[in-house]
Amino acid sequence: MYRVVFPLRRTVLRCSGWSGWKFQTQTPSTSNGAILVPQAPSSVIHKNVRNFHISSTNRYSEENKVYVLGCRSNNIKVSSDMISLKYGEFDMDLLFVWLRDHCRCSECYNHDTNQRNLQNRKLHSEDLPSSVEFDGLVLGITWSDGHVTSYDINWLVDNAYHSQHTDQVDKVVWDKDTIESAGLPTVHFQEYMDSDEGLRKHLYNLVKFGFSIVTEAPPVHHMGTLEVATRICFKQETQFGPDWTFTSNNERGDTAYSDLYLGAHTDNTYFTSPSGIQVFHVLEHDGEGGQTLLVDGQYCAEQLRSKHPEDFDLLTKTVVPHEYYEEKLRLRSLGTVLSVHPTTGQFLQIRYNPYDRSPMYTLPPDQQQAFYRAYENLTKEVRNQDNELWVKLKGGMVLFVDNWRAMHGRASFTGRRLVSGCYLPRDDWTSRARLMGLMNL
Ligand SMILES: [Fe+2]
Ligand SMILES: [Zn+2]
Repeated sequence: MYRVVFPLRRTVLRCSGWSGWKFQTQTPSTSNGAILVPQAPSSVIHKNVRNFHISSTNRYSEENKVYVLGCRSNNIKVSSDMISLKYGEFDMDLLFVWLRDHCRCSECYNHDTNQRNLQNRKLHSEDLPSSVEFDGLVLGITWSDGHVTSYDINWLVDNAYHSQHTDQVDKVVWDKDTIESAGLPTVHFQEYMDSDEGLRKHLYNLVKFGFSIVTEAPPVHHMGTLEVATRICFKQETQFGPDWTFTSNNERGDTAYSDLYLGAHTDNTYFTSPSGIQVFHVLEHDGEGGQTLLVDGQYCAEQLRSKHPEDFDLLTKTVVPHEYYEEKLRLRSLGTVLSVHPTTGQFLQIRYNPYDRSPMYTLPPDQQQAFYRAYENLTKEVRNQDNELWVKLKGGMVLFVDNWRAMHGRASFTGRRLVSGCYLPRDDWTSRARLMGLMNL
């Protein structure tokens, strides 16, 4: 048990982790207000610990200066504005302002609605602890206004800022050889529709590989494609409608409605938030070609990161506009081609569609050369045949593609090819995956 107390006039600091050293009271004893701790070996006072002074313009009078001393052990260190905790592999710097904001007592947090209670408190508090206790599992703080907070160490690990956050499923980031030796991720229609385990397997595949196929589904639109799609969540309606069946009749202003080759891309790059999943079901095809192309965008991004880190970095920061124009539509978005998780730097999203990339009015001339170089280097990865998986889909195989990760395309074809599909929203399919313990981040 470590205990650090910050009273107004006296400092009481006990830390049983240090044998033979303990002192109960101390008053300011130097001209600048610093506290001398003659009994303590110098090594126990952390070098970053400053004597902390709340000025007379704050809430304390001059003689009630607050002096803070740090307590250092292998697990906890208290300094003037934060508590540093080490728990297993996790290193966390917990600022007092963050800790006060994250009090989960029933006064500060409504556990029925899982929302903060804001009626009786400020959003930003400069409260300091008057005491800190840590028993290795629970961090307890009594604040200077008497408010008491305790934090479970596992809650802190899950919710504090640190770089060791991980997802619950180890992803397979794949090129052609990797995915071909792993085999197509599939789940049988009946198992998927009838059991939680089947649904979980499908979502697991989606998280792990960025795509998954439901097999032996009825090769029809409503009772096949849509039954399978809405097993996860509701559909995302777009300008293409709530769902679709289409042939190569060029009825919309999109290459998808032709019989031409379509290079790997993600959909809806022109949306502020592109759709989460594209559901894709080839119901009929009586000609040649038309194989489906899949490329792991995460693999391409990671290849770029290792070969050209400056290009990777640039594509996570450069805003690239995309657009979709029809007679009665003006869709336009501003987003980056690549996104990474803010704390871990892990790949989060690829928004790649050279077809829908709009005029680059967002980029000053002195940055254009670097952008084109970076985009070209990413494109080399996307078009590298060693990264391409080609699959001949047929009726009954309902393909789900994580549109934030995997890219899709198709070979040119002849004959009549009838495709059925819809989009699913990102927030809702990932919610389902989180509820099944498949996602953290
Ligand atoms: Fe597409
Ligand atoms: Zn509270």
